Amino acid sequence: MDLDVPRGFELGVATSSWQIEGDVAGRGRANWDDFAERPGAIVDGSTGEPACDHVHRLAEDLDLLGWLGVDAYRFSVSWPRVMPEGTGALSPSGLDFYDRLVDGLLERGIKPAATLFHWDLPSTLEDAGGWPARDTAYRFADYAHAMGEHFAGRVDRWATLNEPWCSAFLGYCAGYFAPGRTEPGASLAAAYHLILGHGLAIERLRDAGARNVGIVLNLIPVISESPEMDAAARHVDGVQNRIFLDLLAGDGISDEIRTSCRGLTDWGFVRDDDRAVMSTPIDWLGENYYTVMRVAPLSPTDVHAIGQDVSMFPGCPPLSFVPRPPLTDMGWEILPEGVELALRMASDSLPGIPLWICENGAAVHESTDATGIHDPIRSEYLEDHIRALLRARDKGFDVRGYYAWSLLDNLEWASGWTKKFGLVRVDPATGTRTPKDSAHWYRELLSSRSPEPPRS
Ligand code: FCB
Repeated sequence: MDLDVPRGFELGVATSSWQIEGDVAGRGRANWDDFAERPGAIVDGSTGEPACDHVHRLAEDLDLLGWLGVDAYRFSVSWPRVMPEGTGALSPSGLDFYDRLVDGLLERGIKPAATLFHWDLPSTLEDAGGWPARDTAYRFADYAHAMGEHFAGRVDRWATLNEPWCSAFLGYCAGYFAPGRTEPGASLAAAYHLILGHGLAIERLRDAGARNVGIVLNLIPVISESPEMDAAARHVDGVQNRIFLDLLAGDGISDEIRTSCRGLTDWGFVRDDDRAVMSTPIDWLGENYYTVMRVAPLSPTDVHAIGQDVSMFPGCPPLSFVPRPPLTDMGWEILPEGVELALRMASDSLPGIPLWICENGAAVHESTDATGIHDPIRSEYLEDHIRALLRARDKGFDVRGYYAWSLLDNLEWASGWTKKFGLVRVDPATGTRTPKDSAHWYRELLSSRSPEPPRS
């Protein structure tokens, strides 16, 4: 293998609770369970049951992680599994599941990296207003504290939120994700309260003894395809990226966002003293990098890329997103060099904070024959992105690790089982796991790394 990954650079794989766990009966209800029941919300009608049946196949999945030889495993805790009502009593069986997961990782020498919120909000809290309601931020902090108290000594790295852009704008503006609301003003309040919840949770996690606390954003480089689109591209960048970076930096909502989103909200939910909470120092920042967004004048021959649509950006002027080939099955442009642009956004806004790529991967064409499951485009995608990341690291970006998305084929949200990102195939009918060629490739990469230099 000619890709030389230094030993100290952390390599792992990632998953999320609602996408893989199943065992819906064993936990409280989530917003995504409700959403999945709406006709047409999930393209193939999939629900959270059985997903990958991960809860019942935990031992097998731990062994897969051990077989791969990853340094770390990024999973998310299902809030409704550990705290079924979203507040108050903890579920002993929910905690027991994550105890077995975390202990099983540690026994195999794999670092547990936990995300507290990867979009599955307890239905009770969604029904009470969801993220547009300020109270959800406080409930999140209470839940984070409880998790910190239970797992602090064993979890190596914590993220409060995964991709708050998706929760806020896919959930409450486009209605493309749970809870399916189409209220641009409420979506801006959701974005704000998510980061408030994050800041409160960071404090409470630390109080509980947790270390390495951070957050994971999907910072997507936005490229204007012509000078006349510069202002539109700036708006997309503002709502996709800068709103979150500004809040985390303690700068509040910028005048630019207030102007470009004027008329959608009176910003009555903004309080001056929130800034300090939102900018509570973090130990690391995660970025999920898949693609870039290219903004061009509105055209009827729009190429459809999932997640790239004006309905997902409150206040968006007319425009088209025009990804350039090669594209993945999601319609996402493959551009490994873009990872450096994504790193630059974070390091410019939040200087001095170590960075991790917490997700990167592709839904691609696969073929199966007697010799295995062949997904050469995925292996090439992963290799090219890791290479680009190491180049960025050589240039001085403080990036410390990389997680491939995903360990398993899983429920790809509104796309159901129609888009597959796994290194390991999961047969949705039987649950059978079969490593694809990309899993073998990643395993070889993991084992081929040069030994750690002796400490002097
Ligand atoms: C990210 C999500 C993850 C998965 C990948 C493909 O936005 O965090 O759960 O759906 O996209």
